[in-house]
Amino acid sequence: MIGDILPPWVTVAETFDDVPEDTLFPEEEPLIARAVEKRRREFVTGRHCARTALARLGVPPGPILRGDRGAPQWPSGTIGSITHCSGYRAAAVATSASGITIGIDAEPDGPLPDGVLATVASPEEIAALGRLRDENPRVRWDRILFSAKESVYKAWFPLTGRWLDFTEASVDIDPAGDFTATMLISDPRMGTDRLTGRWIVAVGLLATAIALPRAVPERHRTA
Ligand SMILES: CC(C)(COP(=O)(O)OP(=O)(O)OC[C@H]1O[C@@H](n2cnc3c(N)ncnc32)[C@H](O)[C@@H]1OP(=O)(O)O)[C@@H](O)C(=O)NCCC(=O)NCCS
Repeated sequence: MIGDILPPWVTVAETFDDVPEDTLFPEEEPLIARAVEKRRREFVTGRHCARTALARLGVPPGPILRGDRGAPQWPSGTIGSITHCSGYRAAAVATSASGITIGIDAEPDGPLPDGVLATVASPEEIAALGRLRDENPRVRWDRILFSAKESVYKAWFPLTGRWLDFTEASVDIDPAGDFTATMLISDPRMGTDRLTGRWIVAVGLLATAIALPRAVPERHRTA
C-alpha cells in the first residue's frame, strides 16, 4: 500500500501479519525488554520489514538500534522510516546517495480520538479540513492531516535532531493525493522549508509518506 505513494528510488517492505520474535537480533532485545506483547510484536515486525527492505538494497542483515528520541539508526549509507498500526507494519528505505530523508506513517482509517484535532491543527488547518469535508465527506481528512504531521516529524528529526511541535509545521492537503508541509521554524540542516508528500486510503488504513530526493527531479527545476 505505502509503496504506491513513494517514488521508485525508495524501497518498501510491508506486511499485514506479524513475524516470529526470533527474527530479532540479540542487540535489539534490550530495546523492548520491558514492553508489553502488542509493542513487542509491532517492534519485531517493523524491524523485520526494515531488514527486508534493506536487503533489497544489498545491505546484509544486522541490528537496527534506537537513536535519539526513538529514531531508528539506519546502516551507514542508508536512510529510512518505519511505521506500524493495528494490522499493518511497513518500512521504507533508500540509499543516502538517492535520498535525503524519508518519513512514513500509517493509521487506521477511522476518526481521530476526541480532542486530538484541536491539539495538532491550527485554526487555518481546521478550516481547510472543513472545506475538504464539504467536497468529500467520506475521507477522514483530520486523520490524514495528523498522519501527514507524523510523517513530517519522522522526516525532519533524522536531519535536525530536534523535536518538532504540531504547531511548527503547517500542512496543506490536496484532495488529489498530495500534501505540502511548510515548516514554520527554520533549521539549516533541513535545507528546505517545504516538504511534499502523498497520502492514500486503502484496505481500512490510511497512510502518508514523504521522500526528499537528493537531486531535484527535472520537472521540479525552475528555469
Ligand atoms: C514518534 C512518532 C512520530 C511516532 O508515530 P506513531 O504514529 O506514534 O507511531 P508509528 O508506528 O507510525 O511510528 C513509530 C516508529 O517511528 C519511528 N520513530 C520514532 N521516533 C522517531 C524519531 N524521532 N524520528 C524518526 N522516526 C522515529 C520508530 O521507528 C518507531 O517504531 P519503532 O520504535 O518500533 O522503531 C510519534 O509518536 C510522536 O512522537 N509524535 C509527536 C511529534 C510529531 O509528530 N510532531 C509533528 C510535527 S508537525
